[in-house]
Amino acid sequence: MSKVYFVGCGPGDPELITIKAKKLIQKADLLVYSGSLIPTSIVKLCKKGKKHDAAKLVREEIFDLLSKNAKKGKLVVRLHDGDPTIFGAIKEQIDNLDKEGIESVVIPGVTSFLASAAALCTQLTLPGVTQTIIVTRAEKRTKVPKHERISELAKHNATMVFYLSVHLLPEIVKQAIVGGYKKSTPAAVVYRASWEDQKILTGTLGDITKKVWTEKITRSAIVIIGDVIKPKSYEYSRLYDKTFSHGFRKAKVKIKIKN
Ligand SMILES: C[S@@+](CC[C@H](N)C(=O)[O-])C[C@H]1O[C@@H](n2cnc3c(N)ncnc32)[C@H](O)[C@@H]1O
Repeated sequence: MSKVYFVGCGPGDPELITIKAKKLIQKADLLVYSGSLIPTSIVKLCKKGKKHDAAKLVREEIFDLLSKNAKKGKLVVRLHDGDPTIFGAIKEQIDNLDKEGIESVVIPGVTSFLASAAALCTQLTLPGVTQTIIVTRAEKRTKVPKHERISELAKHNATMVFYLSVHLLPEIVKQAIVGGYKKSTPAAVVYRASWEDQKILTGTLGDITKKVWTEKITRSAIVIIGDVIKPKSYEYSRLYDKTFSHGFRKAKVKIKIKN
């Protein structure tokens, strides 16, 4: 059966690519890649194949390239930055390929919000702070369902992650505060996480916009808000607590319960 591989190549650092992704790129007869956020060193791993920058193509042109080459039995790779399943527009292609009897295989990659969290050297879920991460985007030309308005999602006071939205930071801040975050809530913006020119800006909802504008960052960045960025306090994990038993280890210290 003809196949198309939708492959994630990670956030930018060529060493954050999976072995599976690297092998597929090296062997590809056709590589259609998302230009601006994939380093040339990764694109160049494809030595013999034909390469097309998807940024210059429309949906139908991409589909044509993928389906015609797959039907010829070529090894076809549609290469995405980060992970293909996050804001990757793959479902429409997968469904159209399926109608033509072409199988799709998705290879995951390190998505940019995880590379951003790593750059911040933080933990996005912290006991006593939040156990939830909300991944979303701000609305502009692409609409977001009404019940997913930032002010609605912000009511959870969880860690919030925004893709494709750094240019809309004033609106994010406004809506987050309407939803219940304080002006003093920690906020961070990571520009080109894991690239050599990566920039990390941290502050609060009250001052992050000014910091981002000073650096003239308008794209290729992840916005994260929430106390986990700079927690005033948090609880240690139960998993490694000496009084806690679980399937793989018995408690090392027994707690005496007084009657
Ligand atoms: C179309 S989305 C694709 C996301 C991608 N599939 C992923 O998993 O990271 C593009 C957005 O991802 C974010 N992004 C991608 N690479 C990034 C990086 N290295 N550092 C920060 N943000 C990045 C930015 O918000 C950018 O506007």
